Amino acid sequence: MFKVKKFILMSVIFLGVSAFGISAYAYSGASLFSSEGCIACHTINGKGGTVGPNLSHVGSQRSLSWIKTQIVTPGAHFASGSMVTINGKSYMAIMPSHKTMPASKVNAIAEYLESLK
Ligand code: HEC
Repeated sequence: MFKVKKFILMSVIFLGVSAFGISAYAYSGASLFSSEGCIACHTINGKGGTVGPNLSHVGSQRSLSWIKTQIVTPGAHFASGSMVTINGKSYMAIMPSHKTMPASKVNAIAEYLESLK
């Protein structure tokens, strides 16, 4: 009896951990990238806009904390309205700040982008 209970308990924990791992983490970062509108200006793996830089490999150049700051306060990195050069291309720095975005969303998007090497 004890063994069966333990097995059920372990299964529940395992399913809980794996479901959380996929849905609340990498997966939701990728879906938030679309639902929060980032994709309108940024391309990842051939899909998205070109107003801002291509982010397909942003994780190999920028740290997690740098990306979080960029999402919340882009003006901390690039003077708003100025011309900036990123990876050899020029952009008008017009990325909107996301000061009211909940930290959980900022973190999920930043973790996702940081994983793109
Ligand atoms: C209206 C277009 C627009 C939207 C929407 C937008 N961005 Fe940007 N993004 C830009 C532009 C333009 C830049 C260049 C620097 C700047 O404007 O601050 C940029 C820069 C970046 C960079 C820095 C890339 C690098 O290699 O230096 C990251 C990371 C980024 N954006 C992520 C995001 C995320 C995440 C979202 C959604 C929450 C988002 N952007 C929404 C236009 C946009």
